[in-house]
Amino acid sequence: MSPTPFEPIARVFAPDAVGRDVRVRGWLQKGRSSGGILFLLLRDRSGAVQVTGRKDRLGEAVVEAVGHVQVEGALEVEGTVAEDQRAPGGREVRARAIRIIDAGEPFPIFSEQTEEFLLDQRHLAIRSPEFVATFRIKAQLLAALREFLTREEVLEMTPPVLTGNAAEGGPEAFRFDYFGRPGYLSQTAQLYLEALLPPHERVYALTPSFRAEKSRTPRHLTEYLHLEVELAWCDLDGILDFIERMFASVCSTVAERCPKELAQLGRPPEELRAITPPFPRLTYTAAIDRLKGQGFPVEWGADLGSPEERALTLESPKPLFLTHFPRQIKAFYMTQSADDPRTVEAADLLGPEGYGELVGASCRETSIDHLLERLHELGVDPAEYEWYLDLRRHGNVPHAGFGLGVERLLRWMLRREHIRDTTPFPRTPSRHTP
Ligand code: 4AD
Ligand code: MG
Repeated sequence: MSPTPFEPIARVFAPDAVGRDVRVRGWLQKGRSSGGILFLLLRDRSGAVQVTGRKDRLGEAVVEAVGHVQVEGALEVEGTVAEDQRAPGGREVRARAIRIIDAGEPFPIFSEQTEEFLLDQRHLAIRSPEFVATFRIKAQLLAALREFLTREEVLEMTPPVLTGNAAEGGPEAFRFDYFGRPGYLSQTAQLYLEALLPPHERVYALTPSFRAEKSRTPRHLTEYLHLEVELAWCDLDGILDFIERMFASVCSTVAERCPKELAQLGRPPEELRAITPPFPRLTYTAAIDRLKGQGFPVEWGADLGSPEERALTLESPKPLFLTHFPRQIKAFYMTQSADDPRTVEAADLLGPEGYGELVGASCRETSIDHLLERLHELGVDPAEYEWYLDLRRHGNVPHAGFGLGVERLLRWMLRREHIRDTTPFPRTPSRHTP
């Protein structure tokens, strides 16, 4: 083949492309031959184009060989761009030469297969148009989050994932043998971010978190991507304002950069643009009253389950902050409220349309006595948290932070039924392969 460079397939559709010679390469989305002419749909990351190949130009042997290339086989094509109203997008490449890179074996994925089979074949299923759109949006979402945090002068930190503490509660931590001592897979980077706070004041981490929850629900993974932010000199209103701004910013960035992909997945981009501050704020106590009024058998002090969370936002196009939870149902590190010691300075952000908790935020307890009291109540040996308690002995300042489940956010953004469809290789209680 000539040494002209390969071009993205999308260039075939540029205004001035008709009549030009091009070289493109990619994967066969589908192919057939009819009357001795090959009709191929070739895909690369920029798009797909019809390629036609005739015996008189390519030779009989090439047409015969390309006719046997399987779906997802790989090809290089050299040819001329031509208009053809029957082709998708009104253009095709009339091939002068085709080189088979990999003829491929029969591709096992086609329509009408069971969910279990598709999960077994996940390494191949992720080539579908839905997954391609999903992971492009996810990449833009991650970029948008990092851009926002950089603008806000929040620094990215790299906390460890192997730890000696089960920070969010023992039973849900994955435990393993760390050279003869118990080790845990991180459930949160928070405690490490708090340690990094005095020298940096505004920090974040974007790392996997692990939860050994057996819950088989559409919103739990055993491994998820966790965005955690920690800000010094910050109170509850301050952290909620920050979360609002971050949500509005990333929703509008994703709407701007991925309109086609969003529409393809059933989320009109305008709906993301409508996510603007302020978000309504409701105390836990008021939520309990509201839920009781709707007939839910809930009492003050109980953790809200997903049906209750769902009911609170089902009709709402905007997220909702639920604030001031009972101290007893929340983690040991949350600040006891000054005006009501039964509650903590904490908030969950519930996704619109019944999607449930997307963010958990709180002010961090600065009183060592309160921290020790809670660890004692939870039956945890304070010695395990000695290094964390040390942070309260050296430059102890008010601070607050939050954790956002990236796949939870994406599940709402993309209106996915199940969280596993927002990550290429989902980890759930029943599956850790492929
Ligand atoms: O509410 P969580 O447990 O809070 C923490 O871990 C805090 N230490 C975070 C912090 O303040 N730095 O988890 C935070 C978020 C939840 O709101 C949810 O979005 C997500 O993490 N999350 C999960 N996402 C997917 N699968 C799971 N099993 C999840 N568990 C929590
Ligand atoms: Mg939570």
